[in-house]
Formats: sequence, C-alpha cells, structure tokens
Amino acid sequence: MKKKILVTGGAGYIGSHTTVELQEAGYEVVIVDNLSNSNLGVVEGIERITGIRPAFEQIDCTDKKGLTEVFNKYPGINGIIHFAASKAVGESVHKPLLYYRNNIVSLLNLLDLMPEYQVKGIVFSSSCTVYGQPEKLPVDETAPIQPALSPYGNTKQIDEEIIRDALNAGLPYKSIILRYFNPIGAHPSAEIGELPNGVPQNLVPYLTQAAIGIRKELSIYGNDYNTPDGSCIRDYIHVVDLAKAHVIALDRILENKSESRLEYFNLGTGKGVSVLELVYAFERATGVKVPFKIVGRREGDIEQIWADSRYANEVLGWKSVETIEDTLKSAWRWQLKLRENGIM
Ligand code: UFG
Repeated sequence: MKKKILVTGGAGYIGSHTTVELQEAGYEVVIVDNLSNSNLGVVEGIERITGIRPAFEQIDCTDKKGLTEVFNKYPGINGIIHFAASKAVGESVHKPLLYYRNNIVSLLNLLDLMPEYQVKGIVFSSSCTVYGQPEKLPVDETAPIQPALSPYGNTKQIDEEIIRDALNAGLPYKSIILRYFNPIGAHPSAEIGELPNGVPQNLVPYLTQAAIGIRKELSIYGNDYNTPDGSCIRDYIHVVDLAKAHVIALDRILENKSESRLEYFNLGTGKGVSVLELVYAFERATGVKVPFKIVGRREGDIEQIWADSRYANEVLGWKSVETIEDTLKSAWRWQLKLRENGIM
C-alpha cells in the first residue's frame, strides 16, 4: 500500500514541487494549504504533471480542530512535510505577531497531533538564514546559529528548537530539519513554479519580470560588498533538486535508515554565485537581456553565504545536479508560461 504523507503548504512554491516528486516516487499525498499565498490552479498543475490529483484540504495549520479533522478523514498518515509558513523577511518586520503565530502555532499543532495519530516523522523546512553571516565559508551544519535578523528568521530558529526539545522530551517520532539555501527555477514542464504575490521581493522572480517587461528594471542591491564583483553571494539551488531531497529525507525517516531521531542537513549546491553573475548567467542561458541598475544595499542582507553540502551528499545520499543555466532557463520558461496563460 502507498504510504500517505501530509504536505502542509503543498500548494506553495517548494511544496508543490515536492508533491510532484513524492507522487512520482509512489507516495500518496494529502495537501493542507490555506491558499493565503497560492491557489487551486497549482493542484491542477500537479495533476497535469503526474496524472494524479493529490487530496487537498483548504485548512490553516494554526486551526488545530481543522487539522484534527484532516487526520481523521485520511487515516494512516505516515509522515509530514511541513512547508506551510509565512516567508517574507521584510513583511515579518512589520507584522511580527502574524509570523510568530503562523509559523510557530502551526508546528505546535502538528507536533501535538503526531503521537495521537502515530505519525512516524516530520521533515521541517528551515533556512540557511539560521547561520546569519557565517565566519567560515562554505557553511556546514555545525556552524553556530546566530541571532536572527528578522522575525521570520527567528521563527525558523524557534521552530528548530521546538522540534529538538520535543524529541529530547521523548515524543515518539523522528525529524529531519532541512536548511534551504536559495531555491529558484521551476518544474521543467512549466506547469508549476513560483508565483509571487504583488511585487516580487526575491531576486529571480523580479529578474524574470524585468526581463519580460513587467518591471522596468532590476535593482541590484549593492556593488560595494567585500566580494569579487561587489555584489552579494548566495547558493542558488534548483527547486526540483531541493524537492527531491525531501523524498529522500522522508524515506530515511520512514524506513529507519538512521539511528538518530533528529538530523539537520544543508540543501545547497555548494557553489556561491553573485547577483551580477546570476544576471549574466540568465542572459547567457536565455539570450534575453535583463535591464538593471545598481542601487544601495538592502537592509539586513547577508554579504555572502553558500553551503557546504558534503554532509547531505554523503549521509543523505543526495546531490543537486542542475546547472545554474538550466535552472534559470526553467525560471524563464515559467515566466513565459505565465504570460501565455494571461496570468502575468
Ligand atoms: N536582490 C537584488 N535585487 C532584488 C532582489 C534581491 O539585488 O530585487 C539580491 C539580494 O540583495 C540578495 C540576493 O539578491 O543579495 C538574493 O536575494 P533574495 O531576496 O532572493 O534571497 P535572500 O537570500 O535575501 O533570502 C532568501 C529567502 C529567505 C531566506 C533567506 C536565507 O527569501 O526566506 O534566503 O538566507 F530566509
């Protein structure tokens, strides 16, 4: 029988790509999503790619009663992948309580319900933001956690601590915490991708919107950092590579492949790419020019960070395989598809 997985935030950017990979790996998926930053069209996109429509429940994970009903309606949920969260760094500074409520209460509800429904484990979406500006690069999983620069970042740190404490207290499940670097790109079918609400805050959606003419030009936040070309450096990972890591993490929990009840993995490519390098890589990959200008630094930006991904490579047995060019091509195809469909 197919194993049943609850994917919270499964209509979101990373959640939808992970649902595709889970279904292709033979898992049965139940999506719970409040659609605050997504829509039902995503579920249709997943169905077009995989031929399977995942079960979908429009529920907010802060609603414990609603979640309980989901566990009752879909008996035998084996594992959870918890994506559902608010994720805009800037917004979190202005609406901290919203972020603390959404991102912490949701996790508490799930952790509370898991023993009652005999759920074996939870894979949690965390972020490299927990490392702040690391002293040593590339950064590995043993690097110190630094004070968060935003309420959003703080919720990820607190959630990691909550999981750790719950497991230390002997709660009967396992967890894998995945620390994402910068996921970009879209499914090669262009049936699903990133659909930012309003003006994109992240680099690649803004870049593709500037390239297609929705935005006048991309602002590059600073060229006076202590990096080779002066712009910030990140580790950009194809969202499909990232999604695949979740399937492996879940297998690891459900098939008891690890002794430890709690593990942490960096999910990155292991390569740092500057903002300017990324713009040029996009132009090379697509033949499309990106109008841009250099502006001042963005408050709170980390100068440079990229992953030491050896632990994930060796222990999880996962490696990112997509090139930055192919990844950017997929982001462009998605942008073109949004235009074709009259969405943007
Ligand atoms: N950038 C620009 N112009 C833009 C947008 C971004 O130059 O219009 C630059 C940023 O200054 C940064 C880089 O592009 O140097 C990447 O910025 P993103 O906003 O795409 O990503 P961040 O690395 O700032 O943030 C992301 C996620 C967060 C997560 C964080 C972890 O959005 O959720 O990574 O470091 F917490």
